Amino acid sequence: MQPKRILLIVGGGIAAYKACELVRLIRKNGGEVTCVLTEGGAHFVTAMTLAALSENPVHTTLWDLKNEVEMGHIQLSRQADLVVVCPATADLMAKMAAGIADDLATTLLLATDKPVMAVPAMNVRMWQHAATQRNVATLRASGVTVLDPDEGAMACGEYGPGRLPEPEAIWNAIARSGTAQTGPLSGKHILITAGPTHEPIDPVRYIANRSSGKQGFAISAAAALAGARVTLIAGPVSLATPPGVARINVETARQMAAAVDAALPADVAVMVAAVADWRAADAAPQKLKKDGTGQIPPLHLAENPDILATLARAANRPPLVIGFAAETENIIAHAQAKLARKGADWIVANDVSGDVMGGASNTVHIVTAAGVESLPEMPKDAVATALVQRIADALR
Ligand code: C5P
Repeated sequence: MQPKRILLIVGGGIAAYKACELVRLIRKNGGEVTCVLTEGGAHFVTAMTLAALSENPVHTTLWDLKNEVEMGHIQLSRQADLVVVCPATADLMAKMAAGIADDLATTLLLATDKPVMAVPAMNVRMWQHAATQRNVATLRASGVTVLDPDEGAMACGEYGPGRLPEPEAIWNAIARSGTAQTGPLSGKHILITAGPTHEPIDPVRYIANRSSGKQGFAISAAAALAGARVTLIAGPVSLATPPGVARINVETARQMAAAVDAALPADVAVMVAAVADWRAADAAPQKLKKDGTGQIPPLHLAENPDILATLARAANRPPLVIGFAAETENIIAHAQAKLARKGADWIVANDVSGDVMGGASNTVHIVTAAGVESLPEMPKDAVATALVQRIADALR
């Protein structure tokens, strides 16, 4: 399960304002947060802000006797499921690596028996400095999860690695840190494709389809909740990455094929993407123009690789390969033919004659060599849960 109780230590850097957003995200996802604000952190955000967002008292000093009576600092450090240091400044990480305990935050970090995650944010030179890199290596070697900072423009005007990752990415790492340990799919790697592909005709036009990606994203979320390590290879869709899922964005079928190959080995592959069967044979390097003669440019198509069929016949084929089949008629017969043609173990056939593509519910039939199981119409996340249950049973 996801860590429910987070002890959040807010260090002193300009990125501290993003810790406020992180508190909101943890709360929104059903977690509890208790904040500890360092003296440096208090120069950037106030205890009042963190208290209001977390709906919990904020702790700032080791010498607060009232707190020491009500709650010892040792107890505070152990009440959480996970301790998150965000932003983790160069100074805080140096103290953590050296075992210095000279304020409330560092004392808690030394006293805790819970997993610790540090989310660094600092100037690019400070991040790249040998001392910081040494401290990060020491922390990682002693079991602290140190996230990599983002690369980009910094508040100080420089450019490079050192930016705090976006709060959504931090939340995903937090959720993943818990989900990887328990559940019927723990220890398993599930590879999922989802969404449409876009096949360029020229730099501004493309061939696409109506796939929303909702079903594949729902399966990714359900698999992560069941404890799997999930790699989601997503075509262009505007959906949030489910907690605990590692997402790789691609645009074309050929990029998706390469990403699937690079993500192997996996225990299970669930190919939900509506991959374009054809692409423009020669995508124009410049925008195609009307030339005034009324002549229509020809559109020659080339066949895309069949990712599912290739994977099902690959030497490093996952032990369980599942394909989807979107059909508008003779659903089961087409799915049975597809099972053999693609070399998949299961085909999940769905009736797309209604508004399934983009809609919230789905009616599916799970077709295997052993027979057909038809599920009633249900929301896409219920379909996902049902499928993940069957996957867990099959792997058992
Ligand atoms: O042949 P059809 O497109 O109906 O097959 C659907 C199944 O095959 C889905 O699982 C889809 O993700 C997969 N597929 C693929 N690569 C393609 C075409 C389809 O992986 N080029």
